[in-house]
Amino acid sequence: MSKFDEMKKVRDEVFALIGPLSDYRNENKYFAVLGEGSHDSRIMFVGEAPGRNEAKTGRPFCGAAGKILDDLLASVEIPRKEVYITNIVKDRPPENRDPLPSEIEAYGPFLNRQIDIIQPKVIATLGRFSMDYIMRKFDLGFIIEPISRAHGKLYDAQASYGPIKILPLYHPAAAIYNQSLKDTLKKDFQALKVL
Ligand code: URA
Repeated sequence: MSKFDEMKKVRDEVFALIGPLSDYRNENKYFAVLGEGSHDSRIMFVGEAPGRNEAKTGRPFCGAAGKILDDLLASVEIPRKEVYITNIVKDRPPENRDPLPSEIEAYGPFLNRQIDIIQPKVIATLGRFSMDYIMRKFDLGFIIEPISRAHGKLYDAQASYGPIKILPLYHPAAAIYNQSLKDTLKKDFQALKVL
């Protein structure tokens, strides 16, 4: 099966999922957000969960946090269409609350399949939930540090398809009203230039 067909299969399953957030999705006429970008990307960004704009459009990071992500990508001259951007949780949690462990458990297997399809060399996590999930998935749970210490560090890990690097980053939403955090994110993004 081609990467496109495999991803389509994941998409169809996510769209048909009757899970912890599907009633909320249907009641609000929201979309599930699978992810977007190049299926051949070396870099995969993993956020937390769609916000309102994302659930309305079905596109990841298209609201205020997405604008920051776009600025950060531009600062390292990486075109957005050349990376792959997704989230752990594919449906919007009510009122943008943190995802529950049960939601991460329900949607995590879809993210795992997306990683296996794209086979990124670098997984850049956005925020502490995706950092925790990805570090544990790649057997680095034992060295998880608070994001205030882990951000910007490169961690070596072993994927089923070969060695990868994990780059924990602050969530762009945290930088919307915080210029110093945006400067930190900008500095941390520099690592993506050389990978
Ligand atoms: N925040 C996220 O974690 N993901 C999105 O897609 C948008 C905002």
